[in-house]
Amino acid sequence: MSATIVVGTQWGDEGKAKCIDYLSENIDYIVRYQGGANAGHTVSVDGETYVFHLIPSGILYPRTICVIGNGVVLDPVAFEDEIEALKKRNIDSEGRLILSEACHLVLPVHRVVDEARENQAGQRKIGTTKRGIGVSYGDKVTRIGIRLGDVFEPAYLKERLDHLLDIRNLELKSYGLEPVDSAALLDQLLAFGERVRPMTRNTSFLLNEALRAKKSVLLEGAQGTGLDIDFGTYPYVTSSNTTTGGALAGSGIQFQYVEEVIGICKAYVSRVGEGPFPTELNGSEGDRLRELGHEYGATTGRPRRCGWFDVELVRHAARVNGLTGLALTKIDVLADYDEIPIGVGYERNGERLDAFPANLSGVKVVYERMPGWKSDISGARTLADLPKACRSYIDRLEELTGVPPRFISVGPARAHTIVVD
Ligand code: IMP
Repeated sequence: MSATIVVGTQWGDEGKAKCIDYLSENIDYIVRYQGGANAGHTVSVDGETYVFHLIPSGILYPRTICVIGNGVVLDPVAFEDEIEALKKRNIDSEGRLILSEACHLVLPVHRVVDEARENQAGQRKIGTTKRGIGVSYGDKVTRIGIRLGDVFEPAYLKERLDHLLDIRNLELKSYGLEPVDSAALLDQLLAFGERVRPMTRNTSFLLNEALRAKKSVLLEGAQGTGLDIDFGTYPYVTSSNTTTGGALAGSGIQFQYVEEVIGICKAYVSRVGEGPFPTELNGSEGDRLRELGHEYGATTGRPRRCGWFDVELVRHAARVNGLTGLALTKIDVLADYDEIPIGVGYERNGERLDAFPANLSGVKVVYERMPGWKSDISGARTLADLPKACRSYIDRLEELTGVPPRFISVGPARAHTIVVD
């Protein structure tokens, strides 16, 4: 048994949760390794739809153990709300949910500062989810953050919290906002600590021991490569490493255990928030693809920007993540098109670029067009069930990206999945 990493290859919302859910059935441990409640992972099972923000979707399988790794920023309020929402739907996470003592917390002040910074930035805003993610990671990196393990030590916690609030309250003041009182927050954090103490561990130890004992581990990425703090379209990115390197740093598992890295990519592309998007479709064409794909944010409800498949972005993801296979999702959404353009590369000043550049300004996309298949493929369960034009589209994507498809998703349910042998 070994570890499998699942990463997004575009700007998030590639359909990772559905693939993770599909792969989870025989997995012992599922681990979130970065991001926080900014993620919105939607899974459809037996006609029921579940949206997860922090808790791995593997919680739907009664024997799977779900781990929130050290690389995640954990919002106690969002976390407990999610557990309650699951309980109401008869999903009991008791004993199957484990938190890293090293994960950083997202405090209410982080959310307030996230929103204030975005408002202050005006036209230059990032378009964050306003969940306090970047502010919490910022505090981690500047070494004023609070880790879950800190909330079990009252005197130590008080000292850390006072230090953090001294700095964050100065920032709040500069925006004309009320400072946060440390006493009430301290009490809330201590009470939270008491509730989660039994589920808090050194998860790097736990996971490496599990792998040594031949258990299987799936590392569940959030967001996508285009949103990675190092490899994405900076500054329009999230504040963590969404890629394979982040999976190792955010879980503490040894790299030798990683056997597969599956890159999830949609058969077209979407993006929420600001930032460059070379293959974006504007106006009515973009609206058409958004409606066909129901592309609205699972966390914020924002309409997603939509465009054609971008080969350079997925090749970049293949390189950075070491992808061993692709899961191609939502290909059924393209059923109505006569012709399907594919962005096969970038040019700048008339010259073809050989790789995804750090700065996309001035980039023009080179397109190639494939014939559409003009039919509903949601009933297909094998490659042979797909129309020839659809298979040609898939073959061309494999040729261009250099990564073989392992899964093809033709609809939202578990059953809507073609496994490529
Ligand atoms: P933040 O992660 O809330 O700081 O937002 C930074 C950027 O990442 C914004 O463009 C968000 O729209 C984007 N983002 C964050 N989480 C997700 C996600 O789960 N799916 C898609 N985009 C996301």
